[in-house]
Amino acid sequence: MAESRESLHGEWSGRWAFILAATGSAVGLGNVWKFPYITGENGGGAFVLVYLLCIAIIGIPIMMAEVMLGRRGRRSPINTMRHLAAEEGRSPAWQLMGWGGLLAGTFILSFYSVIAGWAVAYFFRTAAGTFDGLTADGVGSIFTGLIGDPERLLAWHTLFMVMTTIVVARGVRSGLEKAVRFLMPALFVLLLVMVGYAMNAEYAGGLGQARGDSPFMAGLNFLFVADFGKISGNGVLVALGHAFFTLSLGMGAIMVYGSYLPKNVSIARTSITIAVMDTLVALLAGMAIFPIVFANGLEPGSGPGLIFNTLPIAFGRMPGGVFFGSLFFLLLTFAAWTSAISLIEPIVAWLVENRGHSRTYAATLSGGVVWLLGVGSVFSFNIWSGEEYQLFGKTFFDILDYLTANIMLPLGGLLIALFAGWRLRRATCVEELAMGAAPAFNLWYFVIRYISPVAVVLIFLKAIGVL
Ligand code: PHE
Repeated sequence: MAESRESLHGEWSGRWAFILAATGSAVGLGNVWKFPYITGENGGGAFVLVYLLCIAIIGIPIMMAEVMLGRRGRRSPINTMRHLAAEEGRSPAWQLMGWGGLLAGTFILSFYSVIAGWAVAYFFRTAAGTFDGLTADGVGSIFTGLIGDPERLLAWHTLFMVMTTIVVARGVRSGLEKAVRFLMPALFVLLLVMVGYAMNAEYAGGLGQARGDSPFMAGLNFLFVADFGKISGNGVLVALGHAFFTLSLGMGAIMVYGSYLPKNVSIARTSITIAVMDTLVALLAGMAIFPIVFANGLEPGSGPGLIFNTLPIAFGRMPGGVFFGSLFFLLLTFAAWTSAISLIEPIVAWLVENRGHSRTYAATLSGGVVWLLGVGSVFSFNIWSGEEYQLFGKTFFDILDYLTANIMLPLGGLLIALFAGWRLRRATCVEELAMGAAPAFNLWYFVIRYISPVAVVLIFLKAIGVL
């Protein structure tokens, strides 16, 4: 029976095609834009440590489970969950998890596209040499100018959504594999160049006189020396949420990519490879950015503008900065693009399966809805930034970001762990994961049944103050 399972939408050409596509989904703004700024906001080292633990004991096991469910179900997340629940004699209500995922994907992409628009704008700015020789203040005022202008943000957001819709309409597989194959190594090398620059960075003006270290050492200290006094219960939740966000887990993106995965590929090995690459990119981004923050006396916790206020300072000063800077923002745009595609793919796959729409129609329809919602995030940085437009001190953008990353994704991940660990027959897991070695399987099975779900629940309880 398992042999006759085939996806309606085609398959990846092999293990590496899947690794590339899933890495393309995982590596994106989450690594380069979000990781540094939330690390800055949550005090550094302790936050990074919690985040790494979440990746290892919650993220990787749940990624394996999500890929497994996708490959077993061979359909869009909603239909996969409905189908698997029926096959295993479980409640049809499990498909609600798929619906929650579609909603989370829509919400995330709506603001993701706006931030990706910033990256596009910065590509043109660095290419034009705008940052040449600017001080930190000069760089900062360029950023403030950009986000204060709703028309520009809207234009870049629109461009990015059109780019995403076109690729999704044409089918995921053809271009994606090739794009990511070149993109990931290039982004990696460029981050190494930036870390190299950071190693030699010096304090601006009189900043360094009182300190015995270099900005690079200050950056490393901030990132890797854990001071648990600096992290709150909410900070722990943000670290957990980010583990889900950065690995694209908990909303069906990895499940839908898993549904195109050929039968003979090892799910455990691929998941670990993807998580390691994703984590390396995030850590490199942090190592490139924080030394610049300290060298220029900037505030690590300054929020979503952090990379746009720091990296251009370096590009404005280093030799070949126009070239490296524009290439960097171009690659960041591509990385965001390959993530955006995976955010919308579950919706498009569902519309094609259940409504019989063509891919083009399905992509245009869902892209349009996401675009419209994104207008709220565009305005969050300018005309709706005032207090009268906020709820609990959060703008529309802040709310979507918090709700999706810190609540919807961990909840989706929790349900995936519970379904895989408690509702799927053990034999199904053994067959689908095909891990060969029994101890490795047993370890995963124990973690997905007990450790991951309990950890997620404990972190939720801690964040709301129960613990
Ligand atoms: N993982 C992506 C990033 O880090 C964002 C994403 C989240 C993509 C959820 C798909 C699903 O940028």
